[in-house]
Amino acid sequence: MKIILLGPPGAGKGTQAKLISEKYVIPHISTGDIFRKNISEKTPLGIEAKRYIDNGQLVPDEVTIGIVKDRLSMDDCENGFLLDGFPRTAMQADALDSFLNDNGQKINTALLIDVPKEFILERMTGRRVCPSCGASYHIKFNPPKVEMKCDICNNSLIQRKDDTESTVKERLDVYDKQTQPLIQYYKDQNNLSVVNGTGEINEVFGDICNILGAVK
Ligand code: AP5
Ligand code: MG
Ligand code: ZN
Repeated sequence: MKIILLGPPGAGKGTQAKLISEKYVIPHISTGDIFRKNISEKTPLGIEAKRYIDNGQLVPDEVTIGIVKDRLSMDDCENGFLLDGFPRTAMQADALDSFLNDNGQKINTALLIDVPKEFILERMTGRRVCPSCGASYHIKFNPPKVEMKCDICNNSLIQRKDDTESTVKERLDVYDKQTQPLIQYYKDQNNLSVVNGTGEINEVFGDICNILGAVK
């Protein structure tokens, strides 16, 4: 199964991606996670990406497209993959199409997690993440078992730097201008599925499984 997850920041892409990649046994490829790993390791890519991410701006297309092509060329993507947070611009979507085309592949579906703006701010400002393993929690909707400690590795949880109210607003703006048009792009290709992302995490996952079960 080759899947693209679309949706605004905070829609629950990462949360659902984890569940989907476990169920379908496909790699979860999150460009945001790749950038954050590079930032924490202070690689040249991380140093460049940080300038954009901390301000809620997109990392330039040339950089991001190269990273995704490299990742999709790895052996574990042969039988499927789940892209979370890519593509995010028309140029990225075109580049992905050509790359897959050249390799005789195509995606099964672009799945939009549909969540209206009024839900987003609370989801994002309440998010806490584990700096060590990347697990993501929410202080109200998905709290860890022990307050501010990761369930998996017991590290102290932190807030993402770009989850402050002003950066979230900027990210939503960037989404509207640059990423939202991709919904029409995949609709035109007859490849869009939509799940209502306002329910509880498990409820949304159940709906996603039904949708993916029907996808060819
Ligand atoms: P990225 O990390 O991809 O951030 P994003 O798209 O803004 O999305 P988020 O990760 O913030 O949200 P999510 O949809 O994954 O939600 P989550 O599951 O965590 O990108 C970060 C930055 O990197 C970008 O701003 C950009 O600078 C750069 N970047 C990345 N990709 C790029 C690209 N392709 N091109 C250029 N630049 C790129 O859930 C959010 C919270 O809500 C959590 O606390 C969760 O527990 C909670 N939650 C989830 N589901 C539910 C639910 N159903 N009910 C209640 N709470 C829920
Ligand atoms: Mg995410
Ligand atoms: Zn952890």
